[in-house]
Amino acid sequence: MRLIPLKDTAQVGKWAARHIVQRINAFQPTADRPFVLGLPTGGTPLEAYKHLIAMHKAGEVSFKHVVTFNMDEYVGLPQEHPESYHTFMYSNFFNHVDIPSENINLLNGNAPDVDEECRQYEAKIKSYGKVHLFMGGVGVDGHIAFNEPASSLASRTRIKTLTEETRVANSRFFGGDVSQVPKYALTVGVGTLLDAEEVMILVTGRGKAQALEAAVEGCVNHMWTISCLQLHAKSIVVCDEPSTMEL
Ligand code: GLP
Repeated sequence: MRLIPLKDTAQVGKWAARHIVQRINAFQPTADRPFVLGLPTGGTPLEAYKHLIAMHKAGEVSFKHVVTFNMDEYVGLPQEHPESYHTFMYSNFFNHVDIPSENINLLNGNAPDVDEECRQYEAKIKSYGKVHLFMGGVGVDGHIAFNEPASSLASRTRIKTLTEETRVANSRFFGGDVSQVPKYALTVGVGTLLDAEEVMILVTGRGKAQALEAAVEGCVNHMWTISCLQLHAKSIVVCDEPSTMEL
């Protein structure tokens, strides 16, 4: 695991964006051989998205031959809801770059058969071979995507019940009202993430210090799913100073 400690959130976002751009450009993607990028939502990656958009506008990167797979989506929230991950991704990233809409993959949390939706999502990822780079964040309780504590480290894309802690943490996006936060989500599994060629996790803020400690110094265990990074041959953790307080 490569640990990249930086000063603050802005530097973390900049580092992550530069790394993604460098990987895409080195790959030289084409229509027949696209670069497959896994993407997260949440407050942490916002800076990275801003930098990616700026780099795109400066002509440093094109997303024309990039295929994306998002990590997760709430179940039962209308797609156009301001807090759906669908809305988040279009307003914070997709609407500002040249990615063709057919290259964007998001889980549908309103699918009539969510198990089938998850199976198809896994199959679609496999149809590209693999995800070349999966960027992610981490929850306060160490969850990666929505793989809450006690998720199997071999798990694949599926429906998960959100913990009370996660719903309380995410209620800040729902006017502080935890009753408005969905109880379930669709998420890629820990196994799905570990299959990616490279996994890059961004960790910022004092509130994530325990999760970072579990990722770096704890033993691999399913109560802190972020610890799965220790099993990956090519994982990068980009973190800010406050998040390193427990190391
Ligand atoms: C949600 C998402 C995760 C994200 C986490 C942390 O639970 N499902 O993918 O990493 O929140 O979010 P934030 O970056 O806002 O702290």
